[in-house]
Amino acid sequence: MTGPQANRETETEGLAALSHRFGSGAVTPPQRARFVRELFDRIAPRYDLMNDLMSLGLHRLWKRTMVNAAADAMMDLEGDIIDLAGGTGDIAALLRARLPDQSITIADTSPGMLAVARKRLGDTVAYVETPAEALPFASQQAALVTLAFGLRNMTDPARVLAEVARVLKPGGCLLLLEFSRASAWFNPAYQLHSRFVIPALGAAVAGDRRAYRYLIESIRQFPDAASISAELVAAGFGAIAVRRFMFGVAALHSARKL
Ligand SMILES: C[S@@+](CC[C@H](N)C(=O)[O-])C[C@H]1O[C@@H](n2cnc3c(N)ncnc32)[C@H](O)[C@@H]1O
Repeated sequence: MTGPQANRETETEGLAALSHRFGSGAVTPPQRARFVRELFDRIAPRYDLMNDLMSLGLHRLWKRTMVNAAADAMMDLEGDIIDLAGGTGDIAALLRARLPDQSITIADTSPGMLAVARKRLGDTVAYVETPAEALPFASQQAALVTLAFGLRNMTDPARVLAEVARVLKPGGCLLLLEFSRASAWFNPAYQLHSRFVIPALGAAVAGDRRAYRYLIESIRQFPDAASISAELVAAGFGAIAVRRFMFGVAALHSARKL
């Protein structure tokens, strides 16, 4: 993160605080898990279109950068690839095109999102409906885990990072793409877009203003890139590199399991 952050409406309290919040409301962790699953089931049919509209297509560039990093990492690695919180399968589709011979599994907790992924990718990848907090994979099974725009939605993000560390081989790579903190000069414009444009698009295109209000609140509550790097170290990762996109609106963390 560069410079002080202005106009910050909600101070983040680290990953642990996310378990008890759903947007601006207080919830129990099981309630949160259910609300998040139901939300993504509801918006799944319009999810990809909404992503293009909200980000003016930029999410595609960020995901391509992540998949390029994945292809580079896989040059030195052997093992499975898991696209965690893989949603509608756009990242798995890019991975499949770059790495045609690799085993790729999309893991996600929302049957609605997985149904869209199945339509997109058929039997070219595998699908697992699971919470990321308890992955049904053997220890040290995977060479690479991609996790894009999923961690902030998870009920127990610290446990998810520990699970990712468990399923990765030593030296295996985690690529974590998430919203982050915009630079102070850009933040006012970004906040206007978040507060007015995104909920309006959510209402008009997805028919679900509340869902998109939650998504914006979850972005505000998510810790900055330095805090995420510290969480990665605590979960057993090293060689952490961070790349910021769009003046810090999103960040790609690359890390290796020690
Ligand atoms: C914002 S979408 C991101 C989808 C896709 N990775 C992308 O970048 O477009 C978040 C995804 O995380 C999934 N998700 C939320 N909580 C989860 C959990 N605890 N375990 C696994 N997946 C979860 C949701 O179902 C949803 O598909």
